[in-house]
Amino acid sequence: MSGQSDLFSAPAPKGHALVGSKIEALRYQLNQWAHEYYVQDAPSVPDAEYDRVFQQLQALEGAYPDLVTPDSPTQRVIGAVMEGLAPVRHAVPMLSIQTETDTEASGAIAFDARVRRELGLGEGDLPVEYVAEPKFDGLAMSLRYEHGRLVQAATRGDGEVGEDVTHNIRTIRQIPLSLPAGVPPVLEVRGEVYMRRADFEQLNERQREKGEKAFVNPRNAAAGAVRQLDSAITAQRPLSFFAYGVGEVTPVMAGGPDFGTHYALLQQLKSWGFPVAPQVSIARGASELVAFHQRLGAERDALPYDIDGVVYKVNSLALQQQMGFKTREPRWAVAHKYPAQEMLTRCEAIDVQVGRTGKLTPVARLAPVFVGGVTVTNATLHNLFEIRKKGVRVGDTVIVRRAGDVIPEVVGCVPAATDGAGRPRPRNPYVPNFRMPRACPVCGSAVVREPGEMNHRCSGGLFCPAQRKQAMLHFAQRRALDIEGLGEKLVDQLIDGAVVHSLADLYRLDLAQLAGLERMGEKSAQNLLDALEKSKHTTLARFLYGLGLRQVGEATAKDLARHFGSLDTLMDASADQLLQVNDVGPIVAESIHTFFAQPHNREAVDQLRACGLTWEEGVPAEAAVQPLAGKTVVLTGTLPTLGRDEAKDMLEAAGAKVAGSVSKKTHYVVAGADAGSKLAKAQELGVPVLDEGGMRALLKGQG
Ligand code: IVH
Repeated sequence: MSGQSDLFSAPAPKGHALVGSKIEALRYQLNQWAHEYYVQDAPSVPDAEYDRVFQQLQALEGAYPDLVTPDSPTQRVIGAVMEGLAPVRHAVPMLSIQTETDTEASGAIAFDARVRRELGLGEGDLPVEYVAEPKFDGLAMSLRYEHGRLVQAATRGDGEVGEDVTHNIRTIRQIPLSLPAGVPPVLEVRGEVYMRRADFEQLNERQREKGEKAFVNPRNAAAGAVRQLDSAITAQRPLSFFAYGVGEVTPVMAGGPDFGTHYALLQQLKSWGFPVAPQVSIARGASELVAFHQRLGAERDALPYDIDGVVYKVNSLALQQQMGFKTREPRWAVAHKYPAQEMLTRCEAIDVQVGRTGKLTPVARLAPVFVGGVTVTNATLHNLFEIRKKGVRVGDTVIVRRAGDVIPEVVGCVPAATDGAGRPRPRNPYVPNFRMPRACPVCGSAVVREPGEMNHRCSGGLFCPAQRKQAMLHFAQRRALDIEGLGEKLVDQLIDGAVVHSLADLYRLDLAQLAGLERMGEKSAQNLLDALEKSKHTTLARFLYGLGLRQVGEATAKDLARHFGSLDTLMDASADQLLQVNDVGPIVAESIHTFFAQPHNREAVDQLRACGLTWEEGVPAEAAVQPLAGKTVVLTGTLPTLGRDEAKDMLEAAGAKVAGSVSKKTHYVVAGADAGSKLAKAQELGVPVLDEGGMRALLKGQG
């Protein structure tokens, strides 16, 4: 599709024949993109670009209706059945939804107006009742249950015929394989298979470590996983599911369920054990649709998964039936978009940043682009090999993705067709025009790459100011020493101005020193001193995590603290002794041992202790009473007095493993207010459910 962008931005040629050829070109391009997207799971352009060209085609066809052909991408649902997966004809077609790309309130208002018009409602009539739902960014799935057993799972395909992916779908823990008694003999549940962002990040991290291709976004990772021929591969790629509707349900009448409303239907699905998004709400009239769109838009970044908009559906099933369909889309539903999370822009330069462990990260400097709701000018390229794999060069048009709290990244590139001089650009072999520097751009130390490692590192250690800064920020972060107010700007000033050199120096700062810094009044200086003072009383786990040992994340720090009880015992532990700790393997053990074997690290620790950092030293795990050792507990909902982290810490201190989802292996579920599918799952599996009081009793060994 290289070089097509001129074609698309050029005004439509005058004259019928010219319009015809323009329409053909647009169709060709859209079909090609659709093929990449649906069949190869490897799109080369962001959705927003597809939508833009699609709308251009729609507009042209609208102006020249005699040029519309039945095979135009505007006239059907695209998608194809892959070789190797058996075709499945859907008993009830899987529909598409009309998309409202106006991301402002007017988008919702226009839909409500359309619905009212079609229902013949006047100004004096009551507001229409809708259900508002997140629009999940995954792939549609139809799950067919016969007599309560999952017999078939199929993708949407072209809406009429999809692909049989039952073998893969059975690996998704959130999808029940059997349903409680009393469900209709034939029940097709429809919903979205998706990948949570955290799962996606982890999967991509693993792919990058192995030197394998990272996935562009969670949706593509999910689509790729679902369409594997080998379900063992699917099982290694954590997928999730939300139900949002039904297909065939028999018998429909005569004793079968009459849900009455879409909302009641979703509640029923939830009670049968299907995950239903907790945000699903009833909204009356346009104003409540607008409010929902805004509320979810504000929450969007904090959600654990991608959404690209919200969906509004007329709640009454009778009204839905009355309104009916328009070729491939129901008239009673609309998808109201949010700003795209992937956009195209130009890569103007590639710089290198140095991280806490010395890792050199290539960062693309971009022509400013509005993506995921903010203007982005920098995006990570991860490492040299990612740049090579994606074939990114300075000057290229790149695909930038910014979703949730994840830092923006370049996920691919659209190679420019010609070089600056108008010559066709060599594509193969692809020569990247970026090189890793041989010396650290910050401190000048040698850059090294260990054999088998994908990452280049600065060998300067804490001599390198960049590493010192990052180490300090890590130490201060909420989940470590939690020093409020010690942010990037301040750390830059402290290190660049040589005000502090070590972590311990932070605790030796005084008011005058701090108040003298840029953008620091006396008040904020005092606040920071207070925060530093407060951070002195910490826990061993937080302290260990804050030290930022390579390979020691939060969970490992907790395990180490629990196992050894005291810092001195841990510092003196041999690699063999470290191997005894839960989840600590040879590489981690070696990394910890090496860290504490180095005198300057021990000295840093001693200095911090000398500055007054304290924590309660406990008894080593073997000696401590751990009433929940070997037990797996799942937390769900909001507890009356305990925060989630707090409850988790307490359970872990008692030896429990806190898991994210309920299975047969779960020993207890602790449920608070608004507990959702996890509670339902526990009840279905007969897992004991406790409230906060019950949990406290259990911790005291009175379970
Ligand atoms: S309802 C009647 N609800 O959006 C329409 N679809 O173009 C049937 N999607 O690929 C679909 N979230 O998988 C519906 N809450 C939601 C949805 C949703 C995401 C997807 C769906 C399909 C596309 C529709």
